[in-house]
Amino acid sequence: MALEGSTAVITGAASGLGRALALELARGGGAIMIADVDMDGASETAELVRRAGGTAHIAECDVRKWEQVEALAERSRAELGAIDVLCNNAGVAVGGPFEDVELEHWEWCIDINLWGVIYGCRAFLPAMRQRGKGYVLNVASAAGLLNPPELGPYNVTKSAVVGLSETLFAEYGPAVHVSVLCPTFFKTGIADNAKGALGERQAKITRKLMERSKVQAPDVAKAALEGLERGDLHIVPMNDGRVMWGLKRLGPRRFQAWMGKQWARGRSRR
Ligand SMILES: NC(=O)c1ccc[n+]([C@@H]2O[C@H](COP(=O)([O-])OP(=O)(O)OC[C@H]3O[C@@H](n4cnc5c(N)ncnc54)[C@H](O)[C@@H]3O)[C@@H](O)[C@H]2O)c1
Repeated sequence: MALEGSTAVITGAASGLGRALALELARGGGAIMIADVDMDGASETAELVRRAGGTAHIAECDVRKWEQVEALAERSRAELGAIDVLCNNAGVAVGGPFEDVELEHWEWCIDINLWGVIYGCRAFLPAMRQRGKGYVLNVASAAGLLNPPELGPYNVTKSAVVGLSETLFAEYGPAVHVSVLCPTFFKTGIADNAKGALGERQAKITRKLMERSKVQAPDVAKAALEGLERGDLHIVPMNDGRVMWGLKRLGPRRFQAWMGKQWARGRSRR
C-alpha cells in the first residue's frame, strides 16, 4: 500500500470528511498534520488519530490566508519531514436562488473552497515535484460535475476545483499524482455551517439526503484514498453521482433541463 505510513496534511480535519481521512491514514500508521480553524475539533481528531495508531500534529490554519497556508507547509515539513499526501479538504456550502445570495456569501465560499485549494496546491506541490513524488487529493463535490440549480456559489467553486485538479494532473503527473474527489451527500457538519439563501424546505431536504445516504464519511474517505493510491483522476464514490455524471456526459443540455424541471417541481411544492 503506497499510502501506508505516509506523512499527510489535511485541511478541515477537525470534523466530517477531513477527520475520516485522518483516521483512515492513521490506521495505516500515518503521521498526520490536522489543520483547521476549529482547534477544539482538531484536538479531538488528534486524540482519535493516536488511538487509531497514527501520529498527530495540529495547526491552526485559515485556508483563506496565503501566509497561513505557507506557514502550514513550512511547519509540516519541519515536524513531519517530506509530505507524501496533501488533502485540500476544508470547505463550506453556500446555496439559494442566484439573485438572493448575498455577494459577501459568494466571496466567503470562493475564498474557502477555491482559494483554499489553490493556496494548498501552491504551497505543497513545488516540494513534491522536486522530490519526484507525492499525492494530492482535492475535495470537490458531485455538484462540481453536475451543477444543480440554487447552489451557484458552491457549484462554481467545486467546478473550478475539478478544473484545477485536471490541469495539475496533466502538469505534475505521473510522478506527483492529483485526484479530485466528487461525492454526493453524506452526513457532516457542513449543512449546519452553510450560508446563503436556502429556504427552510430546501435545508430540510438536504439534511434528509445526508442522513439517508448509505455511504457515509468513513466510506467516502476509504474510497478517496483507494482512488488516490490507484492514480484515479476523478473519484466519484457514490452510485447516484456516477449515474448522473454519466447521463450528463451523454446529453448535457437535456440533463441540465431535466434538473431544472425537477427543481421547479420541488419549488412549486415549497
Ligand atoms: N458532506 C457532504 O455531503 C459533502 C458532499 C460533497 C463534498 N463535500 C466536501 O467535503 C469537504 C469537507 O466537508 P464536510 O462535509 O466534512 O463538512 P464539515 O463542516 O464537517 O467539515 C469542514 C471543515 O472545514 C473547516 N473549515 C471551514 N472553514 C475553514 C477555513 N477557512 N480554514 C480551514 N478550515 C476551515 C471546518 O472547521 C470543518 O472542520 C468540503 O470540501 C465539502 O465541500 C461534502
